[in-house]
Amino acid sequence: MYKILEARELTTNIYLMEVEARRVAKRCQPGQFVIVRMDAEGERIPLTICDYNREKGTVTIVFQTVGAGTKKMGELKAGDSLHDFVGPLGCPSELVDEPVEELKEKSILFVAGGVGTAPVYPQVKWLQKRGVNADVIVGAKTKDLIILEEEMEAVAGNLYITTDDGSYGRSGMVTQTIKDLVEEGKHYDVCIAIGPMIMMKFVCKMTEELGIPTVVSLNPIMVDGTGMCGACRVTVGGEVKFACVDGPEFDGHKVDFDQAMKRQQLYQTMEGRALLKEQE
Ligand code: FES
Repeated sequence: MYKILEARELTTNIYLMEVEARRVAKRCQPGQFVIVRMDAEGERIPLTICDYNREKGTVTIVFQTVGAGTKKMGELKAGDSLHDFVGPLGCPSELVDEPVEELKEKSILFVAGGVGTAPVYPQVKWLQKRGVNADVIVGAKTKDLIILEEEMEAVAGNLYITTDDGSYGRSGMVTQTIKDLVEEGKHYDVCIAIGPMIMMKFVCKMTEELGIPTVVSLNPIMVDGTGMCGACRVTVGGEVKFACVDGPEFDGHKVDFDQAMKRQQLYQTMEGRALLKEQE
């Protein structure tokens, strides 16, 4: 059993949980995920690691309540336990493998959308600890949906907040801020975008126009996180990949987002799943 040390609602339907999981905390790297189960019969929920503390032996996860499983999880309190906490899974962020001296030469931009701010945070923190200051754009529909602002502020070189309705920070989509920053004279060698599929699709369109290589994390399309369900199948540069096994990070300019989003939609119904099975 894995004890929950802290559990709180960050904003409507988005929760943070710090869990005692020594083995995962010891080995995990930014970009990886865990599979959580509340009880022996519970559904397997893949969740990206938001933070970890190797000394304390804890891992922090952030999740949005999207179905019955995550809704039930949102009701857990500090002192409760999780039945399974398996990981770390997936490949670590590519940044982790790059020599720090080379990273210091690079100008890095992160773009986070909504709950996607959680997996961006450990990457920015990892870089900051090594003396690399990355710019971060955090976007959400409204002010209430911005999460981890203080935490991000503490580790980002520059933090730009945008809201679609203009209720906080810059007004408009994250793509507008990317364009504005470049027009204001900023240069970026690489962009890492994590958020809703539709956001990543348009970020990639924009960065392709601006000539900025872009990495995306396809966590949002994972269902069981084991390579078995087929939900996260995606075409990248003409090749079939599975986000949970081959990713979750991919070259954003090569991802077929339209196909992945269509699949994601179909996967949500039983009829859709049957149809996908027939097609494969
Ligand atoms: Fe099921 Fe990847 S999430 S195969």
